[in-house]
Amino acid sequence: MSGHDPKGTRKRAVITGVGHYVPEYRLTNAELEKMVDTTDDWIRTRTGIVERRILKNGATSDLAAAAINDLLKKRNMAASEIDMIIVATVTPDMFFPATACVVQEKIGAKNAWGFDLSAACSGFIFALVTAAQFVENGSYKKVVVVGADKMSSITDYTDRANCILFGDAASALLLEPREDTEYGILDHIVHCDGAGGPLLNMPAGGSLNPASHETVDRKMHYLYQDGKAVFKVAVVGMAEVSYEIIERNNLTGKDVDWLVPHQANKRIIDATANRMCLDSSKVMLNIDRYGNTTAATIPLCLSEYYQSGQLKKGQTLVLSAFGAGYTWGAVLVKWAL
Ligand code: UT7
Repeated sequence: MSGHDPKGTRKRAVITGVGHYVPEYRLTNAELEKMVDTTDDWIRTRTGIVERRILKNGATSDLAAAAINDLLKKRNMAASEIDMIIVATVTPDMFFPATACVVQEKIGAKNAWGFDLSAACSGFIFALVTAAQFVENGSYKKVVVVGADKMSSITDYTDRANCILFGDAASALLLEPREDTEYGILDHIVHCDGAGGPLLNMPAGGSLNPASHETVDRKMHYLYQDGKAVFKVAVVGMAEVSYEIIERNNLTGKDVDWLVPHQANKRIIDATANRMCLDSSKVMLNIDRYGNTTAATIPLCLSEYYQSGQLKKGQTLVLSAFGAGYTWGAVLVKWAL
């Protein structure tokens, strides 16, 4: 693909399509009560989660391809029109090739290039910001950003602290350039702090701890999280970055129509809404039905709320997330669909 823009004019990246896919199987709190020492009441009150979806057969690329196909159908668009695909994921099909290449083949996007982006629960925010640069500088006209994770593939279903949290899903957005428009990606703030790495990671399978009998025996290919420690940082980080992006755009909570938060824990979401002085009716929420689907949470909210008619053209949104790395960030959007 050529990234050449003969006119050299800077445009605005606008979200012009959305789609999602969730697997059929529902893993309920009642079922988890039979698998580990937990209760429906503990899970609901500590996290807000009631059930999550699990992909029984297939890989992250299948989730991502289904989400993009849903987007294409709703936009009445051919896969061959896509210029670029960014897959935000921490559960790629394989280390290589990139899941973006697998997805490109599965959906038949023969004119697209693409790559994977790893920023865990902030993956969608980071991918959206990255995609917007290519659209704004005129390089590409139809860029698909998909957040997709099969978290069940790295979850230890004997670890009660973590197995109650995660689910599988994918959701995709289309970004296109528009000139002289008030809609689209208006601002972003993104952060990394590698000091948080030891508290949330998957220790083995990479070059540090290549797969061996020992790494498997020690369950090092599963997600590890010190939940309490991560909670303390996440609750402040997500609230502050969400507040910062409205403040620096001279907005208050009254000007925001929707907070679209990463769905890790209802208590983190509530704290973020409080910091922004936002009523809970302005917070997109589906953690009860899907749990934490990592890179998929934010676009899944957007897709569902748009489909149900609650998300409307002209509304002002703050998308925000906090995740492994640590990584965190927020994006200010004016919805154009
Ligand atoms: O998405 C990326 C970033 N990740 C996050 O934002 C997640 C951040 N962390 C959290 O959301 C929360 O820390 C958790 C939901 C993971 C845990 O909630 P918590 O209120 O921080 O609980 P805790 O870890 O402090 O555990 C409290 C108690 C412990 O028992 P003791 O030591 O008080 O006797 C745990 O052993 O709850 C126990 N516990 C459970 N009990 C029933 C831990 N997991 C469970 C469980 N069922 N599933």
